[in-house]
Amino acid sequence: MAAKRNLLVTSALPYANGAIHIGHLVEYIQTDIWVRFQRLMGNRVVYLCGDDAHGTPIMLRARSEGLAPEQFIARMNQEHREDFARFGVKFDCYYSTHSPENEALCYLFYERLKAGGHIVHRDIEQFFDPVENIFLPDRFIRGQCPNCNSPDQYGDSCEVCGKHYNPTDLINPKSAVSGAVPERRTSRHFFLRLEDFRQQLLDLIRGGLVDSAVANKLEEWFGKELKDWDISRDAPFFGFPIPGEANKYFYNWLDAPIGYLAALAKNMAGSAADAEEYWKMDDLEVYHFIGKDIIYFHALFWPAMLIGAGLKPPNRLCVHGHLTVNGEKMSKSRGTFINAAQYARHLNPQWLRYYFATRLSASPADIDLSFEDFCNRVNSELVGKLANLISRAAPILTRLLGGRTGIVTMDALPLLNEFRAAEAEIAMDYDQRNFAAVTRRVCALADKANKFVEQQAPWSLVKTDEEAARGVLTAALEYGRILMIYLKPIIPDIAASVEKCLNVGPQKWDDIQNSMDSHVINPFEHLTGRVEERKIQNMLDEVKTNATPATAPAATAPAAGEEPLAPECTIEQFSAVDLRVGRVIHAEAIEASDKLMKVEIDAGPLGKRTVLAGIKKACTPEQLTGRLVIFCANLAPRKMKFGTSEGMILASGPGGKDVFLLSVDERATPGQRVH
Ligand code: MSP
Ligand code: ZN
Repeated sequence: MAAKRNLLVTSALPYANGAIHIGHLVEYIQTDIWVRFQRLMGNRVVYLCGDDAHGTPIMLRARSEGLAPEQFIARMNQEHREDFARFGVKFDCYYSTHSPENEALCYLFYERLKAGGHIVHRDIEQFFDPVENIFLPDRFIRGQCPNCNSPDQYGDSCEVCGKHYNPTDLINPKSAVSGAVPERRTSRHFFLRLEDFRQQLLDLIRGGLVDSAVANKLEEWFGKELKDWDISRDAPFFGFPIPGEANKYFYNWLDAPIGYLAALAKNMAGSAADAEEYWKMDDLEVYHFIGKDIIYFHALFWPAMLIGAGLKPPNRLCVHGHLTVNGEKMSKSRGTFINAAQYARHLNPQWLRYYFATRLSASPADIDLSFEDFCNRVNSELVGKLANLISRAAPILTRLLGGRTGIVTMDALPLLNEFRAAEAEIAMDYDQRNFAAVTRRVCALADKANKFVEQQAPWSLVKTDEEAARGVLTAALEYGRILMIYLKPIIPDIAASVEKCLNVGPQKWDDIQNSMDSHVINPFEHLTGRVEERKIQNMLDEVKTNATPATAPAATAPAAGEEPLAPECTIEQFSAVDLRVGRVIHAEAIEASDKLMKVEIDAGPLGKRTVLAGIKKACTPEQLTGRLVIFCANLAPRKMKFGTSEGMILASGPGGKDVFLLSVDERATPGQRVH
């Protein structure tokens, strides 16, 4: 047997300024599948990730929400963890770049790079927002393209003609933050001299850091001198201050990849030195899964930093392409910018894992989510071929033959051998990230198995020869079990249900060669349903209205008490929510929406409010009119498809017909605060 591998695997650290969306999930699901496969094979893996929490966009986002950056990133961290958990993406440690471990490591890198003579400084001219008093990142400057004159383009490149330029070349530049005309200001910046690492980087890229297609592209950068990399930013900035310097911070892309090591330290409950020691293990293979947009950082800057700090560069970058939806870039206006949580409210996350697997290979080409294809694949492959084997055979065995398997019928053995012999090729496909090939092979095997069962017709056979029927059903379950081992990294939850039904423990790759002769299975429980187009449409509608309804019901409604407890909040946070009593003076169902009702509330001295509430199915306008309700009065108004909602009415219940408005004692008066 091959020696066990020792792997350290990462997914790129998502920015803490936004929700996880289905584009991100391509990467996290891809990595998670690969990690689960390696573990199934018995290899040692640590899988690390965390939030990329520093930088100007995050500072500004926190400011606009009236929060300290630390508070804001803590909330995002919690949300991101929940999103990943929903999709079965299981890290050993999900940390943050804003952590003491990362700060210590960041200083360690800086000191070593400085001591090695790789850091230089010089003055540069940059745009400064005189209203906000901040230096503006390129993305926060808008203006006319100097090349094609298109209006309202970013400071670094034009979306119309594709030209890259300096922000100072823009015509009529404006700050995207305040709208002010930015001023040019000079400031001293720190740079990492990439050119110092030219040869090592070239050797690395030619030596298998990336696939050859990516390597060829990368080599083009070495045609001229590698530019020094600007690693500093001026105050105000949310990040780590540069030691010994006033008002200077490390650029967030410097401490971001160091965050991989910080997560390692945290995972070991250790120090920077412990993480360094782990990273230096001879047999450790470091794999970074990344999108093609951040190759530059991972193939040049990060290896240069590692080499300069005396640590080994990564073994491999696993680069994937970007997700498109129905053939086009994800877009808010087209309603295809789907957040992970929005998806999970309507559709089963295991389906997305399966679907992405059918589209993923080692290529950095973009991958498309077509909802038509998604429906077909889930319904015909996952439900119709794979789950089908178990969901047909297990109930018959339980109902008619006491749930006991026998010995696989002789006729089934050649195919069973074929199932087992596929192991090596499937393992190779997994290892090379060729998950599409895995699903193709597994479906081809399932087709043969279904055909066999169909021909043998155990449901008829059982009437004349019980033991023969048992032999066929045993074969069907054996096929199903092996297929589920093959698919376990892709659909772990469904595989776990199969293990439970078959009454076998958690299966490992080695179990492919074992069998379950003469063994009592558990009563069959439903494995997975079919995708209904209606649910996809509901999801897309919700995304398009760009808002969850005012009383936001969860679509896959958790039973009472099942909803996980939200993270603890302080009394200050609680008091920030201004709840008031109001009387409904008018209510009308919105015809074009199947959920929403337009409700007018009289809030006494606060005046009148219009709220769009998701209670159309739960009550009639007549039942509502005249009632006292509790509503959140200081919620930012929200523009929805059918108008602006100026608050949220409090209710409980899973949604649909089951929305229960909180009742208020008739002695309360409209406008009174609820404590
Ligand atoms: N914070 C940086 C990474 C720092 S790693 C030291 C970053 N964050 S990100 O949130 O923008 O992206 C995180 C990962 O998700 C990246 O690898 C990125 O390529 C990937 N994706 C983000 N949007 C994506 C799609 N639409 N499609 C596929 N992957 C995408 O970059
Ligand atoms: Zn242009």
